[in-house]
Amino acid sequence: MKSGVMRRMVLVLAMPVVVGLAGGCGDRGGASSPASGGAAVAVVTPAMAVVKPGAAGPAEDLEAVLARGKAVYNRTCVACHQPDGKGIAKVFPPLEKSDYLIAHLDEVIHGVIYGQQGPMTVNGVEYNLVMPPQLLNDRDTADVVTYVLNSFGNPGGRIDVERTAKLRAKGS
Ligand code: HEC
Repeated sequence: MKSGVMRRMVLVLAMPVVVGLAGGCGDRGGASSPASGGAAVAVVTPAMAVVKPGAAGPAEDLEAVLARGKAVYNRTCVACHQPDGKGIAKVFPPLEKSDYLIAHLDEVIHGVIYGQQGPMTVNGVEYNLVMPPQLLNDRDTADVVTYVLNSFGNPGGRIDVERTAKLRAKGS
């Protein structure tokens, strides 16, 4: 009799723990489920479904990508390259109609991930400065470069997450 009560108490106590674990798991993208019980899986699955639409796919609406890219630009790049993309003469090169950007797209993406230094010529002007690594994840990197390609008089284009991931995998 006494042990029956105990068992019920343990069950009641265990419930919030399972839900808590499942919730935490969903926040991290549901990579692993420490509780293999059916209840935990049922909680994790809808949480993952909520996370998934945020992932950029090739068919994703360009407007949504540009809106995210603009937000990244405004909190990450704007201080140096300026709101109008004109940069600051001799200190920060322009992103506006940048011939360097179009001709060296992979290097630019790599530079956003790992930093960029050394001589470069942008629209006929030489720079030899240092751009620090921007500490963005692959999606933010893809979004912000896509935003730059479609802004400041640049000709457009689209960078997907796979391309940034590949360049990150190459190392610094
Ligand atoms: C701390 C200042 C700073 C920040 C922040 C910064 N950059 Fe730069 N960026 C530079 C400098 C300096 C260079 C030139 C590096 C060189 O001379 O090798 C550069 C070069 C570039 C270039 C290649 C040259 C050109 O003008 O086309 C691109 C593209 C670029 N940055 C994009 C970005 C993007 C996108 C971000 C935000 C994710 C960013 N930068 C954030 C300073 C910065």
